[in-house]
Amino acid sequence: MCRVGFIPADVLPQSKAAIAAALAEARERTLALVAPLDDEQLNTVYSPILSPLAWDLGHIANFEELWLVQTIGGREPLHGDLGRFYDAIENPRKVRGELPILRDAELRSYMADVRERTLEVLEGVEIDGDAEDPLLRDGFVYEMLLAHELQHNETMLQLLQLVDGYELPPAIEAERNSVVPSGRSGSERNHATGPGDEMVAIAAGEYEIGAPERGFAYDNERPRHTVELGAFEIDRTPVSNGAYISFMEETDAEPPLYWERDGDAWVDTARGRREPVDLADPVIHVSWDQADAFARWAGKRLPTEFEWEAARPQLGGLGHGWEWTSSDFLAYPGFEAFPYREYSEVFFGDEHKVLRGSSWATHPRVARPSFRNWDLPQRHQIFSGIRCARDA
Ligand code: AVJ
Ligand code: FE
Repeated sequence: MCRVGFIPADVLPQSKAAIAAALAEARERTLALVAPLDDEQLNTVYSPILSPLAWDLGHIANFEELWLVQTIGGREPLHGDLGRFYDAIENPRKVRGELPILRDAELRSYMADVRERTLEVLEGVEIDGDAEDPLLRDGFVYEMLLAHELQHNETMLQLLQLVDGYELPPAIEAERNSVVPSGRSGSERNHATGPGDEMVAIAAGEYEIGAPERGFAYDNERPRHTVELGAFEIDRTPVSNGAYISFMEETDAEPPLYWERDGDAWVDTARGRREPVDLADPVIHVSWDQADAFARWAGKRLPTEFEWEAARPQLGGLGHGWEWTSSDFLAYPGFEAFPYREYSEVFFGDEHKVLRGSSWATHPRVARPSFRNWDLPQRHQIFSGIRCARDA
């Protein structure tokens, strides 16, 4: 899985050939993830909060069919109103195993048939900056499909942590090792572990937050606007496993998901392995509740998402885990839903907390500085970690 074919999303306009190559690469990644599994595993519900993989696969193709083949191409769907079973809002994750979704060989041919039609539609459309349809302008809809498929790759990787003996495709294992400090060569290893680690000072002032007007971004990242921040300090690196263990020992806090005790030490049991927890690695698979409690124990607090974005150019250790912020997932002033309310708008409110950054399972195309992820505060199936802040 080489990335050479990618043009960064902020370079416009994309050529059709580059779009086709990026779509092919994303699909290769999706299929590589499920290659080691049999049909029965693809249909298994491993957790009530995660979809069976067959649902993700069909949903990826159905999303592509809906937005590209039907909406842009004006064609009829291949399987009538099957799409309603792939609607994420209508079908909560815990019921997805019982839906009459496509499975096995039928599922694979649906994915391929939709992709064939997508490439046909691409041939006949204008995707430049002058395109009248906002879905096509700057290739928006193609960027959205790519981002959607790659984001579902991460959701699939969350589920794959529950599959005993699952081995990551070599390209993804390599991506993971490149952002896990203990996976790097000795000289690059980061042995900072204490909660009193180095902090970066950020001056009070006005900061530009959100995605610029041009270039692909989700509706929730717009409009770009100015936010006034007081002076604050933020950890230069994310909280390590070692620091989290100190917190657990002093407070009886729960361990991260997948950790088990092994004598005096902790082992990570994700994917059925028993790997010793490396004290220097950033902690992941913690909930917002755990992250918030850790920050208070350390005499700090979680940063707001605006503080995080303002400080981002000065942060180290990025990319191992998403970072919980203290912010609720809310609309920016002047928000307009595009292209559909169900991507962001229906999730706005005080129920979900924002995470920033990216994890080892996030494709770099997804990890924009303005990207906002969100989840419920008690959830820890995501690859989520902690970085603390405090008022200066
Ligand atoms: C941004 C990860 C919260 O999975 O609900 C996938 C991404 N949206 N398909 C989610 C998403 C529609 C979204 N998160
Ligand atoms: Fe989706």
